[in-house]
Amino acid sequence: MSETVQIIIEGKEYEFPVVEGSEQEKAIDISKLRAQTGYITLDYGFKNTGSTKSAITYLDGENGILRYRGYSIEELAEKASFLEVAFLLIYGELPNKKQLDYFQESITQHTLVHENMKRFFEAFPQGAHPMGMLSSMISSLSTFYPESQNPNRSVVDIEKTIHRLIAKLPTLASQAYKHNMGHPTVYPSNDLSYCGNFLKMMFSLPTEPYEVDSVVERALNKLLILHADHEQNCSTSTVRVVGSSQANLYSSVSAGIAALWGPLHGGANQAVIEMLESIREDGGDLQKWIDKAKDKNDSFRLMGFGHRVYKNFDPRARIIKKAADEVLEQLGVDDPVLDIAKQLEQVALNDSYFVERGLYPNVDFYSGIIYRALNIPTDMFTVMFALGRLPGWIAQWKEMVENREPIGRPRQVFTGSKERSFVVLADRD
Ligand code: ACO
Repeated sequence: MSETVQIIIEGKEYEFPVVEGSEQEKAIDISKLRAQTGYITLDYGFKNTGSTKSAITYLDGENGILRYRGYSIEELAEKASFLEVAFLLIYGELPNKKQLDYFQESITQHTLVHENMKRFFEAFPQGAHPMGMLSSMISSLSTFYPESQNPNRSVVDIEKTIHRLIAKLPTLASQAYKHNMGHPTVYPSNDLSYCGNFLKMMFSLPTEPYEVDSVVERALNKLLILHADHEQNCSTSTVRVVGSSQANLYSSVSAGIAALWGPLHGGANQAVIEMLESIREDGGDLQKWIDKAKDKNDSFRLMGFGHRVYKNFDPRARIIKKAADEVLEQLGVDDPVLDIAKQLEQVALNDSYFVERGLYPNVDFYSGIIYRALNIPTDMFTVMFALGRLPGWIAQWKEMVENREPIGRPRQVFTGSKERSFVVLADRD
């Protein structure tokens, strides 16, 4: 007989089924709770709430395990290309040669964006945050492809939207950068790899053509893979919830970009470097900053430390730390900020405040150091995260649609006024 749990409410016993995942993690299925008992659950930040069953990414926060479709993040980061990982996440299996060739070719065919979009960029002030530009641009793509707005779109239309998104995000991201630099747009080069093409669009100038450096290309490939999915995090849940209203995929991803922007989520990579620079400019007194982070009257937090799910270590941070060392050495970059990061990590890891709360460096702690070495400006760091996370958002959206999940609509416990009568303005105090 399958397992159940008993819940006693006001002396009456109710039974609810237990759902078990493929890695033996357990959940109480309370989908009939309100109908049977009149009660709802209250769970700020959804710390104990599973919003779905998902077959995409497995994450064990206690043991620092992360797998996409069963493959370990360590192995994928070492051996795969970003587009292979994107295919794996979206379609469930690693592609064979024919499938990968088709996927790459289709994405290559869609890298251009409509010329009218240049006018949108022109309207943004110089120095506009690239995440704001990117979110708007991705949402506006839906206006160029109205078929994407049809909730009953065909599988072919969905496929096209998916390929267009993967193809156009690097183009739009590099255009946001060029806009801020005041440099002319560089069009995509379809003879280059996904990462190579992006780097060229970023760094090529009419006066100085850019040769793709294989060290930089490999580092970027690895970073994008490490960010490609992370189960039901804030931005992914946003994509699924927005998509659950049958809003189109472009708008759902645009909402995901907005959610990722926050400094408690993807925006942390920008905040980490800004914090490390402030520490350096302030004279490098690490203890002072650690004390600030521990002080409950001070809103400062050690950026790049802590994670909702990882309470022992973040496996991505380990890979990134090693990659940061390698990339800096291969490129011959000596970044004093890396030394501050390493010292800060040591001080924090030996401080009982951080140890007791399970606060360890997360993926964002070292990623910014690599981006700096690749000459990517600080305000573009979260854009780089978005480039990596896109296949995850798409895979999760697709799973939600295929599972025919209901519209995401949490409940609340109302704590406001009971009914009262309207008082005309003249009679109010
Ligand atoms: N610095 C100092 N104290 C911290 C930090 C930090 N970075 N993170 C958590 N804490 C403390 C909290 O003050 C709290 O202490 P208390 O128990 O004494 O009240 C305790 O640790 C638990 O923290 P919560 O905020 O309850 O944990 P939650 O799971 O809600 O937050 C989060 C996780 C948002 C990542 C948090 O650790 C944080 O703000 N980190 C810094 C921002 C960051 O690096 N974000 C990137 C996350 S990775 C990603 O999204 C890609």
